Amino acid sequence: MQKFSEILDSQYDDLTSPYSDDQYDVIRAIRDLFRVIDKSLPEYTKVGSKPSSAFAKVQHVAPMLSLGNAFADEDVIEFVERVQRFLKLDDVPAIVAEPKIDGLSLSLRYEHGELVRAATRGDGFTGEDVTANVLTIADVPKTLKGKHIPAACELRGEVYMLKQDFLALNKRQEEMGETVFANPRNSAAGSLRQKDVAVTASRPLKFFAYAWGEMSDYPMEEPTQHKMLQWLDHAGFVVNPEITLCHSVDDALAFYRRIGEKRASLPYDIDGVVYKVDRLDYQERLGFVSRSPRWAIAHKFAAEQATTVLEKIDIQVGRTGAMTPVARLQPVTVGGVVVQNATLHNEDYIKGIGNDGEPIRDGVDIREGDTVVVQRAGDVIPQIVSVVMEKRPESAEPYHFPHKCPVCGSHAVREEGEAVWRCTGALICPAQAVERLKHFVSRLAFDIDGLGEKQIELFHERGWVQEPADIFTLKARNAELKLEQLEGYGETSVRNLFAAIDARRTIELHRLIFALGIRHVGEGNAKLLARHYGTLDAFLSAMRAAADAQTEEGNTSEAYQDLDNIAGIGDVVAEAVVEFFAEERNIKALDALLAELTEVLPAEQARRDTAVAGKTVVFTGSLSKFTRDEAKAAAERLGAKVAGSVSKKTDYVVAGEDAGSKLTKAKDLGVTVLTEDEWLALIGN
Ligand code: IVH
Repeated sequence: MQKFSEILDSQYDDLTSPYSDDQYDVIRAIRDLFRVIDKSLPEYTKVGSKPSSAFAKVQHVAPMLSLGNAFADEDVIEFVERVQRFLKLDDVPAIVAEPKIDGLSLSLRYEHGELVRAATRGDGFTGEDVTANVLTIADVPKTLKGKHIPAACELRGEVYMLKQDFLALNKRQEEMGETVFANPRNSAAGSLRQKDVAVTASRPLKFFAYAWGEMSDYPMEEPTQHKMLQWLDHAGFVVNPEITLCHSVDDALAFYRRIGEKRASLPYDIDGVVYKVDRLDYQERLGFVSRSPRWAIAHKFAAEQATTVLEKIDIQVGRTGAMTPVARLQPVTVGGVVVQNATLHNEDYIKGIGNDGEPIRDGVDIREGDTVVVQRAGDVIPQIVSVVMEKRPESAEPYHFPHKCPVCGSHAVREEGEAVWRCTGALICPAQAVERLKHFVSRLAFDIDGLGEKQIELFHERGWVQEPADIFTLKARNAELKLEQLEGYGETSVRNLFAAIDARRTIELHRLIFALGIRHVGEGNAKLLARHYGTLDAFLSAMRAAADAQTEEGNTSEAYQDLDNIAGIGDVVAEAVVEFFAEERNIKALDALLAELTEVLPAEQARRDTAVAGKTVVFTGSLSKFTRDEAKAAAERLGAKVAGSVSKKTDYVVAGEDAGSKLTKAKDLGVTVLTEDEWLALIGN
């Protein structure tokens, strides 16, 4: 049994959902309240079991404070007047205006110019050690540049994700059936706090430096905020280019308006402006009131909400068949941007049920015809915050989520424990088709030279390629299609394209399996399946047997059990594979494709008789003797496992030019580091 205040304590360390700094402060206040209650009423506040924290705690040498808020111009004027009164200044002191980046703050400790620790803010006093994760962020220098390097310093700023990177990541996550993030901030927080550093490394995290904590000495005479920002820039950090030195309140407010207008077009989310008194000696004299500095304030943008009518709910179908409901709204301006659509996420969301099964919007459902309050979360995705019940038309009916794909009519399934309905039309659903075709020709699948995403879009739009088999009949149909008459094509390029397509009539089994675009079957799982079954015939007959035995209640066939028992293949993957083969139209499309192929090469069994069999290898830096894909393929053929990040379990790190943090880590852990030539010698090349 644990005390409630202890649970709230651990909330700082083990956030299951990322909180903003302001939310942290609220949690902290609640925790403090419960500490009092725990003391006076100890019997009433014991609950549940103890959550554990994945990250070590780090004490900040100088606490990471929060900022007071200003919402109106008057609040900013008052702030500056307060500063002047406190310092007894007649004139307005210079003020630095900075965009308030909507990410999560991070403190980086450097000793003699070397990054020694990175910590999250936590409750402001104690954060979490995320050094290993932060080493993967390119914007964070591992060694400070320049002459004036303090013996010890804590340099601070914001980890964030670009809006476009966030959208792309969400798309990938959705395709893989993984967590989709609500906004770039959550996405950045979730990506940073990963136990598996390789996951963080694969996420496009960025960092702006704008502050510091402990500074053993300042790198300049008469230090100011703007000079310190310049120094951070020279030391190798990225400093936000919008930051402006202001000499009057009007200047500062003009910056706020200018950046507010620019907000939607900035590549990252901001939620206001931070004004800071420029001179550090002034900052020192001004000091702090409780947990916020007197020398800075955050001027927040107004909440961006508006009321409009939800005219219709449409269903959009993504590459893996995820059916996402979208609210079509009467166009309304929310914070300067016209909003016509809002995501409704999934069936439960429309019903008023959140991801955790708890009610949202007080359990109120959303109906066509409702008047709704719309909000732009961060800057990117508009959301519906509430329904104006007084305005609900009497005729409004609860929304029935379709159980069929609105595009192709295939049946849709909602797997247990999932919120998403998915179309099972896979290869034949037009909405999925073009995305799947792109996947089919992608690098790790059929990888056809001269047939990339652009060409697929064009050929699909013209109705020339609807399903994978059509790619292989292009040549036979060309008397009619006349590809050489397309803009940018000529006789030679068409001939080359057909040759490249023909070359792929012979394909490895794992590439074929991967190319099918079955949910949860990425490159790794495709290889596991290929290795297990060995040949195409063995694979197909097992899949047919498993699919034939598929019932609503589950699958007890031997073929299914065998699939489910493959090391590395779990229930979720096994079910997705069988679901794919249970759809008659997928089988038809696959048969049509197979009729066009000459040979599907059996999987190479992993070898056990080589120097690297059973070893774990990491390739890093830029490789000059082979591409990363080649290196990976060769290593795997010889029975080695290729990993993305270095750990104690790594046997070899093969380092090319400019190898960075992975090499450093390998050296720290005493892992054997090989040059490309040494690697080639080891594998006998
Ligand atoms: S200065 C002592 N500058 O806002 C104050 N903070 O509510 C140190 N933030 O925890 C912070 N952009 O996560 C500062 N240019 C900026 C900022 C900024 C975003 C965040 C930061 C901080 C929170 C305060």
